Amino acid sequence: MDESHVEGDLVETLFTEQQIQSRLAELAARIEEDYAGRDILHVGVLRGAVMVMADLARHFGRHVEMDWMAISSYGSGTKSSGVVRILKDLDTDISGRDVLVVEDIIDTGLTLSWLVSNLTSRGPASVEICTLLRKPEALQMSVEVRYVGFDIPNQFVVGYGLDYDERYRNLRSIGTLAPHVYS
Ligand code: PRP
Repeated sequence: MDESHVEGDLVETLFTEQQIQSRLAELAARIEEDYAGRDILHVGVLRGAVMVMADLARHFGRHVEMDWMAISSYGSGTKSSGVVRILKDLDTDISGRDVLVVEDIIDTGLTLSWLVSNLTSRGPASVEICTLLRKPEALQMSVEVRYVGFDIPNQFVVGYGLDYDERYRNLRSIGTLAPHVYS
């Protein structure tokens, strides 16, 4: 894969395409086992989760139903405030459904904590979370996450859905950004 359009922007690759895909395959196998005989509704949180949703789903050997939410944190710039508004709600009635929220990253945990309580209020059979990345050191709100791809240090990462200023989402790998990109 030619990633030369951003060559030099990444300092370090944390996870290669192969590492991400093999971890997603493991998670999909676990999820299939855990939900044997039950239909899951996968809920992706736009926009960063698009890649994880697509690739996780393609590791399943069963039908995968997907729906999407777009939410936005009120408050300052890039920091989560925990106060969230819904920009696009689910099209699906989730009452009585087994819901699996699929995320690219849990940082402070504020977004997911709000989302889980919002979804729970709609009367689903269950709500669980699958996230590719989690930053344990950045957590401000404890969130119970059943499926975690990788725990990472508290550093800014891009690629595979994660952006800096709406760029780098299309990278197949995940890495840290060189300081010169910020300046
Ligand atoms: C990211 C990620 C989560 C949220 C996690 O989305 O997809 O939704 O931040 O952060 P938190 O744990 O600190 O609440 P972001 O707001 O960057 O939007 P995007 O998916 O459109 O890039």
